[in-house]
Amino acid sequence: MDYKKYIAEKIKIEGVSAEEIAGAIAVPPNSDMGDYALPCFKFAKILRQSPVAIAQKLAAEIQPDGVIAEVNALNGYLNFAIDKAGLARQTLADIERAGAQYGSSQIGAGKTVCIDYSSVNVAKPFHIGHLSTTVIGSALYKIYSFLGYNVVGINHLGDYGTQFGKLICAYKHWGDRDEVEKGGIHAINELYVRFNSEATEQMQAEAREYFRLIENGDREANELFAWFKSLTLAYVDKIYKRLNVKFDSYNGESFYLDKMQPVIDELKEKGLLKVSEGASVVDLEPYGMPPCLILRSDGASLYATRDLAAAYYRKSTYGFDKCLYVVAYQQNLHFKQIFKVLELLGKDWAKDMVHVAYGMVSLEDGAMSTRNGRVVWLEDVIEKCVEKAYAVIEDKNPNLENKREIAEKVGVGSVIFGALYNNKIKDIVFSYDKVLSFEGETGVYCQYTCARANSVLQKAKGMECAVSENLQLAPQEYEIIKTLSAFPEAVKDAAEKYEPSTIARYAVDLAQKFNKFYFECKILTAEDGCKGFRLQLTKATLQTMQNALALLGIGVPEKM
Ligand code: ARG
Repeated sequence: MDYKKYIAEKIKIEGVSAEEIAGAIAVPPNSDMGDYALPCFKFAKILRQSPVAIAQKLAAEIQPDGVIAEVNALNGYLNFAIDKAGLARQTLADIERAGAQYGSSQIGAGKTVCIDYSSVNVAKPFHIGHLSTTVIGSALYKIYSFLGYNVVGINHLGDYGTQFGKLICAYKHWGDRDEVEKGGIHAINELYVRFNSEATEQMQAEAREYFRLIENGDREANELFAWFKSLTLAYVDKIYKRLNVKFDSYNGESFYLDKMQPVIDELKEKGLLKVSEGASVVDLEPYGMPPCLILRSDGASLYATRDLAAAYYRKSTYGFDKCLYVVAYQQNLHFKQIFKVLELLGKDWAKDMVHVAYGMVSLEDGAMSTRNGRVVWLEDVIEKCVEKAYAVIEDKNPNLENKREIAEKVGVGSVIFGALYNNKIKDIVFSYDKVLSFEGETGVYCQYTCARANSVLQKAKGMECAVSENLQLAPQEYEIIKTLSAFPEAVKDAAEKYEPSTIARYAVDLAQKFNKFYFECKILTAEDGCKGFRLQLTKATLQTMQNALALLGIGVPEKM
């Protein structure tokens, strides 16, 4: 809860905004004067009244409520005392009422957001470099939905380009139907890698011919292409399921091949298309950017052309209010160019397009690069985390039921949380030990805190849960209450900044505060009135933590 903001909204001073008032509110050094104070001296001039009179008048206008316990005027200051017990009651009641919906809202009702994320390349490895786009995009999907937006998740597949001609050629020379069917994406990738290292001049020419055949609608070539695509999708879908990731559309680059002409025509009509060395480009020099390539000299379209067609399609199909692209910062220029071209085309919705850029993920040992063949498949990273989580459980709690299921939640959660904890633009080095630590700022730590809260609640079954009338909050309790009441703001903040790390940090903060309370205050052995409150606080913490982790796609095991 942002008290300054809350209080500021209650104070009406003509010609002064709530923001300005919030900025003027201070925390008095001495709590005898209340928890917050507004000095009225600076309003004397505008209101043509003395600060003392202003403070008195304002004090008379404001009614105490569940948050503000007391208001009074003293020597030109307007003083506020916060009703901590009132805030606690209200917050716990809100969480009890809303349950899994606590933190949600309807601020997005009637608005549509398109989110382009993961956007894998057919027949290429789904590697650790795709982790961020996949989990950031998916978290934004869940966050925006939670805020009432209509969300469209789009996997803009990389399913077009000369590499498919090469792949068909490689398959024709070295491939075997059963082997590829069995090996799936790994077998396809091997063929592609082999082509790149072994293909002769003759095969290169054949590959170009196969690509031309795909483009011209040749049946066999397109069947092979469709087969490679379906094998890739079957493979990535399994990973998406494990990561709790969903899409509403898999319309990739090839989907736009017959939808580019209107864009090209419009560019021509508006005099934006220039021929340069045989290619058609949009000159962006006045905006300090290299030209945006629309058609190659042989008439072939480019990545940018297909993205322009996709933008048109998304606007006309979904009528979005916002269109997000969760893509690595390496493509900063590409998106700046696309957005600029749309603006030059006179599309006022160009301003609603956002490139949500993120940094690189690498592994501790430096493995990552595609060129030296040391690709790290995302599936292997997930598998390793799940195995490690299983080993820890086996070690700490061998009698636990459903160990496999729990290890899956913990392992997968550790990967997601590891990718989401830092501000998205930062490059991160992925460390297995770090993401799986029970003590660090990890998903495991948050999940373990939930298991702890769960165990308290299990033991408390059947106990009296009444909250005493004259509730006095311990500082540890008040810290949790403040954090719990701040959750709805944190969700909005994450959406506004396209920053799921806000939620991940929130979860760690809440876990830390709960653990401090857990170790320093008695819960099950507290006196009756106090115990009831503490149990409710534990329950509310568990619920809010579950809601936060769910927004990131992370499940919470009951026991760990
Ligand atoms: N497939 C592309 C890549 O791996 C990312 C596509 C991002 N989305 C888009 N609309 N351009 O680099």
